Amino acid sequence: MKKDYLIWDLPLRLFHWLLVLTFGALWLTAELGSEYMEYHMYCGYFMLFLLGFRVIWGLVGTTHAKFINFFPTLSRVKNYLAPKSSKENNKVAGHNPMGAIMVFLMLSLLLAQAVSGLFITDDVFTSGPYNGVLEGDWQKLANRVHDLGFTLLQAFVALHVAAIIFYKVVKKTNLVKPMFTGKKSSEDVTEASSIKHSKLLIALVVAVLVAVFIYWLVVVNAPVIEEYYYY
Ligand code: HEM
Ligand code: HEM
Repeated sequence: MKKDYLIWDLPLRLFHWLLVLTFGALWLTAELGSEYMEYHMYCGYFMLFLLGFRVIWGLVGTTHAKFINFFPTLSRVKNYLAPKSSKENNKVAGHNPMGAIMVFLMLSLLLAQAVSGLFITDDVFTSGPYNGVLEGDWQKLANRVHDLGFTLLQAFVALHVAAIIFYKVVKKTNLVKPMFTGKKSSEDVTEASSIKHSKLLIALVVAVLVAVFIYWLVVVNAPVIEEYYYY
């Protein structure tokens, strides 16, 4: 009889769909111009929170969320790509090694994008809280990263969505539904590879700690920009 097993924990699923929404909001607020830059920064802080959470969740989360369990080592990639007999199949419960390459690239690019945002300015009304800390060429580099990083991200996101459509159309595998429900069918995964629960209490503690850290980073610790008043 067909059964469903839990593979993606709830915090990871929430992370993913909030990431999609926040990414869209960052894109929109950047396009709409300087009046919306304030909102761009708020969304950027939320993005930093999401990424901070994901990094820690990659260390202490459930089996398929842990980086160590899906890091695309050469042997994992080779094994995944090797031709299989009809009895074997190369279905992986969590991210397969090719998907994992994409996941690590996207997470790294998003981190670079969000961190560089802290240091830049639009030269009109809005500056990241650490703008002015970097000087000369470093400042330019942060701007380049924020600019070029976004172009790369757009390409990777397009590839990411294309890969998911490819899996659906060609491989007849729906990856999107499990990202909503967390569950995959016993036709694709074994009970042994499933997770028992979502470790919600640990996730809550991690979320609170990361939120406090981001608040400290962008509010408490942010350097005060000196202003000069003329009397
Ligand atoms: C509507 C568009 C999108 C859909 C349908 C979608 C769907 C998915 C699915 C199904 C997975 C799991 C893949 C697997 O089974 O290995 C996934 C993972 C992922 N997606 Fe998306 N995605 C979308 C947009 C995005 C965007 C815009 C971003 C980034 C800006 C993104 C970043 C990621 C990341 C980082 C993961 C890995 C999750 C983790 O382990 O942390 N996705 N996505
Ligand atoms: C992953 C997160 C982020 C994404 C996807 C993103 C995306 C973008 C995009 C597409 C632009 C327009 C680039 C251009 O016109 O050259 C932009 C500009 C900007 N972003 Fe972000 N951003 C992110 C995070 C942040 C953060 C955390 C901050 C600051 C706290 C920030 C501050 C700015 C500023 C000040 C500009 C104006 C730069 C300029 O006009 O040259 N961004 N961002």
